[in-house]
Amino acid sequence: MVRERELETPGGRIAWIEAGAGWPVVLLHAFPLHSSMWLPQLARVPDGWRFIAPDFPGFGRSAGFLDGGRRGLDAYAAAVGGLMDALEIDAAVIAGLSMGGYVAFALHRALSARFSGLVLADTRAQADTPAGRDGRVRMRELLARSGPAAVADEMLPRLLSSGADAALVAQVRDTIAGADPAGIDAAILAMMDRPDSTADLPHISCGTLVLVGKEDAITSVADADAMQRAIPRATLTVVPHAGHLSNLEQPDTFSRALADFLIARA
Ligand code: MLT
Repeated sequence: MVRERELETPGGRIAWIEAGAGWPVVLLHAFPLHSSMWLPQLARVPDGWRFIAPDFPGFGRSAGFLDGGRRGLDAYAAAVGGLMDALEIDAAVIAGLSMGGYVAFALHRALSARFSGLVLADTRAQADTPAGRDGRVRMRELLARSGPAAVADEMLPRLLSSGADAALVAQVRDTIAGADPAGIDAAILAMMDRPDSTADLPHISCGTLVLVGKEDAITSVADADAMQRAIPRATLTVVPHAGHLSNLEQPDTFSRALADFLIARA
């Protein structure tokens, strides 16, 4: 059963959904979605594990800056660290998909001792290229001009593979169209300012699972392969018949790979 939770802090509200009981796994969502993208995984929590999926500030039910002055992805990482403190979680497996992976890198820079494992799904270590930053500027303009639904229409062909189920396409579109424009805009700025994490990869000492949809049009199999080779204790799983949001497009394959990784660590 999925439980909805939230916590009011002086800096704002952090909300999350969770399921299961036992060793914690913190699941970090993609842009511009929210914690509900992890519902297929929360429906399949392996015995002895607790899955916790927060909304980043400005997404879902979370609001405000929870960090006392930090900005960008560091603010999101501070919110996740604050939630772990509030839940008295010393260490957890941290799993991030795409922007969630960028936040996992930021959290690792701040709190590496609190990682008992790492899952990097459909993400990359590199910073944005100049062309990527230009694309972000255009997306901010589109957002200001036409709102989140236009952002959804622009992104959808790259988020899911051409074979994705129509109901899933509609579900992802609805999630993005319903997002707070201010939250989307802050996340675009945060992503375009993120540092390159490539030099951090050899220093990630925890066991790591790298996952990627075979047809991911945003973060490629080559990006995933490069991360796997640079992180000392990493394995790579390529998810067939999946685009960027591989956990949503192939929930069984994704959840099985995640469970195998967790069980091997137990
Ligand atoms: C995401 O899925 O979080 C974003 O597409 C990542 C990005 O735009 O770099």
